[in-house]
Amino acid sequence: MFKLDRKLIISASVAATVALFAVGCGGGNTNTSTATNTLNGKVTIDGGVVYPVVNDKTGPYYVNTNIPANINNGRVPTANELKAWNKDVMPDGTGLPEGSGSVEDGEELYEAQCVMCHGDFGSGGGGYPSLSKGNAVEMQKTLTNNRWKDPEADGPVRVFGSYWPQVSTLFWYIKDGMPHPFSKSLSTDETYALTAYILNINEFEIDGEEVDDEYVLDRAKLLKVKMPNVDGFEPNIDGPNGRDNVRAYYANPTNFGALKVKYEDRCLKDCQKDSVKVRYIQNGGIKDFLPPMDSTRNLPVEKEVKVDPVKEYKNSCAMCHSSYLSPGSAEWAGYLTKGMDKVYANAIHGTEGGMPAKGGTSLSDANFKTVVDYITTGKVK
Ligand code: HEC
Ligand code: HEC
Repeated sequence: MFKLDRKLIISASVAATVALFAVGCGGGNTNTSTATNTLNGKVTIDGGVVYPVVNDKTGPYYVNTNIPANINNGRVPTANELKAWNKDVMPDGTGLPEGSGSVEDGEELYEAQCVMCHGDFGSGGGGYPSLSKGNAVEMQKTLTNNRWKDPEADGPVRVFGSYWPQVSTLFWYIKDGMPHPFSKSLSTDETYALTAYILNINEFEIDGEEVDDEYVLDRAKLLKVKMPNVDGFEPNIDGPNGRDNVRAYYANPTNFGALKVKYEDRCLKDCQKDSVKVRYIQNGGIKDFLPPMDSTRNLPVEKEVKVDPVKEYKNSCAMCHSSYLSPGSAEWAGYLTKGMDKVYANAIHGTEGGMPAKGGTSLSDANFKTVVDYITTGKVK
């Protein structure tokens, strides 16, 4: 989902009540007379935000053309300075240096420089990301798991192997950013070795060959890696049509999750009417809408399933209640004189005489009471 606060501007009348949204909006002043939304005739769009263009330059929300002279804006970096930082490694191999490294060496490096944060075999832990959860192809299948539909279900597993669309990013990430905090300290061959090791623990195959403990990775082989989730993203941003794909995608509001819902149907309950109006920056294309008052996501309330009291008795109560205080037996008379409310309460909280709380079950009060009704009368209501 998108971060709404980055994409929205707010009508001036409500800016004070929802100041949070206004951060970075420059007062929503995107429609200055000099600003346009196109550059060389193309809409300037990134992540759904249409950027204003002033003097042929894009700015996210606000372009300040009146910079006071006493503010030091630094200087333009030299070509060499740029070269030192511009180390992008692209899926087509651009920026990927020649070199090689083995899984074996990678494992050694990993044990020395990575394991303390990323855990044994990339298992993660202590807030540091896992680098593997097992077989990448199998893990990729979990991405469609949906806990919204079934709160008990396992969620999607998003790690490098299951989730990332391009292997080049792995090499790039390690070479550029790891090991934290000594980034850029690894040689090219060391980076190949670590990449090989991470492919190994994610159980990759390259060209039909398993990346096993003996495997030696090099540039040509790395470029043959097929990531299982390469087609799992939309829109397709790769290749020369990438930008146009993005433009087309965001030009169609029904591609935005939030806007798939019809305007009239957006509000669930107790929504503010007309008090807060939020609109997308894009002129014309996307309609105003009212956000729901509560933006927190709660898990769906579980609908209680009624249990069968007889079955529940057999499973959870009979081991103690089959000979004494059995369903409907005469012994209950003495217990019931104190009134059902007290009986329920005793049974729910347990008694010193040996009745465990709720008989050791995790039934809801309502369900548990139906079992008490059954056990005390021998009848199902
Ligand atoms: C001191 C802790 C630390 C060490 C040591 C470390 N990392 Fe990391 N690593 C991190 C943190 C923190 C992140 C997440 C950074 C973020 O998400 O912004 C990360 C992210 C990564 C990722 C991206 C994972 C993902 O799914 O987003 C890779 C790959 C990685 N590290 C590889 C390595 C390798 C290889 C080494 C050893 C050479 C290493 N790291 C050493 C802390 C560490
Ligand atoms: C581990 C044995 C055990 C299990 C399991 C057990 N009970 Fe009991 N239960 C007892 C004993 C012993 C008493 C008598 C306690 C007393 O007199 O304080 C009792 C008492 C009760 C009472 C009377 C409480 C009162 O003081 O008024 C109810 C009602 C009851 N059980 C219902 C259930 C139900 C329903 C289940 C199954 C969901 C269940 N019990 C499972 C041992 C058990």
